[in-house]
Amino acid sequence: MTSTQKVVFLTGRIVNLRPLQKSDIPALTRWINDPDVREFVTNSFPQTEKREESWYEKLGSDEKNIVMGIETKDGVLIGTMGIHNVNWIDRTGTTGALIGEKEYWNRGFGTDAKMVLLEYAFDTLNLRKICSDVISYNKRSLHYSLHCGYRIEGKRRKHVWRNGKFCDIIQLALFKEDWLPIWKKYRKTGKVR
Ligand SMILES: CC(C)(COP(=O)(O)OP(=O)(O)OC[C@H]1O[C@@H](n2cnc3c(N)ncnc32)[C@H](O)[C@@H]1OP(=O)(O)O)[C@@H](O)C(=O)NCCC(=O)NCCS
Repeated sequence: MTSTQKVVFLTGRIVNLRPLQKSDIPALTRWINDPDVREFVTNSFPQTEKREESWYEKLGSDEKNIVMGIETKDGVLIGTMGIHNVNWIDRTGTTGALIGEKEYWNRGFGTDAKMVLLEYAFDTLNLRKICSDVISYNKRSLHYSLHCGYRIEGKRRKHVWRNGKFCDIIQLALFKEDWLPIWKKYRKTGKVR
């Protein structure tokens, strides 16, 4: 596929978000099984390609869970990001992110993907409040969520069993009015602060 044929759904500064495709399944399976990645997400069991495939098949017709691939501008698929459990009456949703190619961590790709996903959530889907749950030891995820504008709303104490102990879940949420000034700055300067 040449670059002119690329499928793009959302355009960021350094990433594009695009629909997932069947050929992504081996990468998705590799990421979700990687011990360095899965310690941060809700996956404690080995995931087969078949299971990823059935998750992928359902995704196409699911209006409550909208998940896209994160691709660099060079066309490298590095992870996924989405809005889950959308409630169209309350106009809420919960974001989830997974950059599976670890050499891309801490280089601003997650922030860029999150900022364009939030624009889509607020300005296209007309959602009102976007939530996120982070395991307390995931300092990177907490940091990038806070700098995108999320605020801590609460904590579920000793809620998940990880690495031999119960850990807290930090509950975050973001309203459009708190995100808008950060988005304006980000569009102008490429920086969230
Ligand atoms: C969480 C994730 C999506 C973030 O994407 P990313 O591209 O790595 O994040 P960014 O580079 O945009 O931002 C990371 C920020 O955290 C900071 N950070 C990194 N490690 C940190 C730590 N241990 N403590 C505090 N801040 C930290 C970075 O300095 C950066 O902040 P800055 O831009 O102000 O310098 C990605 O790392 C990932 O998918 N990780 C594995 C799975 C995961 O944790 N998913 C989220 C589950 S809630």
